[in-house]
Amino acid sequence: MKLKIAVLPGDGIGPEVTKQSIKVLNAIAVEFNHQFQFKYAVVGATAIDTTGDPLPEETLKLCENSDAILFGAIGDPKYDNDPSAKVRPEQGLLKLRKSLGLYANIRPVKAYDSLLDKSPLKIENIIGTDISIYRELTGGIYFGEKHLNEAGSEASDLCFYSREEIERITHLAFKAAQSRNKKVTLVDKANVLETSRLWRKVVTELASQYPDVTLDFLFVDNAAMQLILNPRQFDVILTENMFGDIISDEASVIGGSIGLLASASVGEKYALFEPIHGSYPQAKGKGIANPIASILSAAMLLEHFCLFEEAKLIHRAVEKSLELNITTPDLNSNNTAVSTDRVGEFIQDFIANPEDSNRNFANIHLGQSTII
Ligand code: IPM
Ligand code: MN
Repeated sequence: MKLKIAVLPGDGIGPEVTKQSIKVLNAIAVEFNHQFQFKYAVVGATAIDTTGDPLPEETLKLCENSDAILFGAIGDPKYDNDPSAKVRPEQGLLKLRKSLGLYANIRPVKAYDSLLDKSPLKIENIIGTDISIYRELTGGIYFGEKHLNEAGSEASDLCFYSREEIERITHLAFKAAQSRNKKVTLVDKANVLETSRLWRKVVTELASQYPDVTLDFLFVDNAAMQLILNPRQFDVILTENMFGDIISDEASVIGGSIGLLASASVGEKYALFEPIHGSYPQAKGKGIANPIASILSAAMLLEHFCLFEEAKLIHRAVEKSLELNITTPDLNSNNTAVSTDRVGEFIQDFIANPEDSNRNFANIHLGQSTII
């Protein structure tokens, strides 16, 4: 398969983790005879520094002319601490999502057996967790009308949803549930918010088209607690933009590190793949950032094009790296942590040598780029 992939490494650790995904995708291309063409563009703080615009026209054009987008991370502390900044890095990502119509953000959350002890949660509570979060991505309070009065003393953000915006992601969530454990949990705040009541109404109506799927409701405050107490009760979580943002970071605790969580943002025409973590500026350039979230996002990219064998091989490689503790410091506190590059290299090598993948890896020599 020929794919044109736009690569937007972005800010902070974005470039170093994205680099590992490119290595991995190149290894997949060789192994399975695909042609992946990568074209790079700037976004976020990096783009503001060079062009004054967090999403330059050229970057948007490249994305529109590509089959898929691989995104790194966005954000820079110099803007976080300046509430009066008119231009912010995050605007680049938000505009990109809106311009490309990426209305559904899919965030898988899994408790890997080899990492159960890395989570601060009790092993017996998280073992076997496998959740897919469907977060609406182009509506709600993120995109509603914003207001700040002239005195700078009053502000508002409107939360708006239309039936159509709710319907399209609801269909995706139910279809996903049909091929999983056949349960959708709608997370909302219908006891308080009008928008949430509209979500309940529309989702309930559509549920009748999917009689094999059970629909369940939880208020977001309760859902936040249930995610920690009993995450196995969830299969597909369907929710609006801001609740999805918050609960997915919370859910990352189940997996042991936010550095593991990948995501796909899809619409009618375009698809973007990005780790859910931020730009982690404190780690930039230190080689300590976990590249797995980005690498698993690359696997989601392959799945999007029905390259399931290829994606599976990436998953196997990632699982092997976790099993063997070839991991960055977020998952490895006992002085045996390896660098961002090294994790990428291991996964790349595993893919390049699939015939070795059933072997006993006890003899792996860290620091060498080939599996022996
Ligand atoms: C995410 C991020 C973004 C969001 C930020 C960077 C705008 O936190 O993708 O979860 O809030 O959607
Ligand atoms: Mn977030």
